[in-house]
Amino acid sequence: MLSEKMNQALNDQVKWEMYSSYLYLAMSAYFADLGMTGFAQWMRAQAQEELFHAMRFYDYISERGGRVILQAIDAPPHDWKNTIEVFEETLKHEEHVTARINNLANLAQDERDHATGIFLQWFISEQVEEEDSVRDVIGKLRMINGEGQGMLMLNAELGTRVFTPPVVA
Ligand code: FEO
Repeated sequence: MLSEKMNQALNDQVKWEMYSSYLYLAMSAYFADLGMTGFAQWMRAQAQEELFHAMRFYDYISERGGRVILQAIDAPPHDWKNTIEVFEETLKHEEHVTARINNLANLAQDERDHATGIFLQWFISEQVEEEDSVRDVIGKLRMINGEGQGMLMLNAELGTRVFTPPVVA
């Protein structure tokens, strides 16, 4: 059984993951509007991944006999200066999510809630990957200065991304 405090913290995280999905969908719409279909596809896959994260927390709360209480999701921004700014915001957001996951892991440790600690391990590794893939895109954008032929190539590369739900034990 989850403690009330842990239940609340996990419910908060459902909201954060849903907000992440919303944020990346807004970024996808921004790119689609500019005709940057590859970037739009990358962000759309990212949004689907976040929805998957939200549902993992949702299911875990139920599995542990907790109560899922959904919260209002804030409206995300809808406009950015340029492509690099979108990805810098993405990285900032992911770093914030990483900090939240670490706080949850600390709480699990404080409460000697080992099951939740094990559950969170997957997210801890996932965040390393998420931050890395965003840094990778930022690196490429800086290399090509967000312009020209390089952008066309990056657009094509990012457009190949599809979200396949991972098999999780
Ligand atoms: Fe669900 Fe991108 O962290």
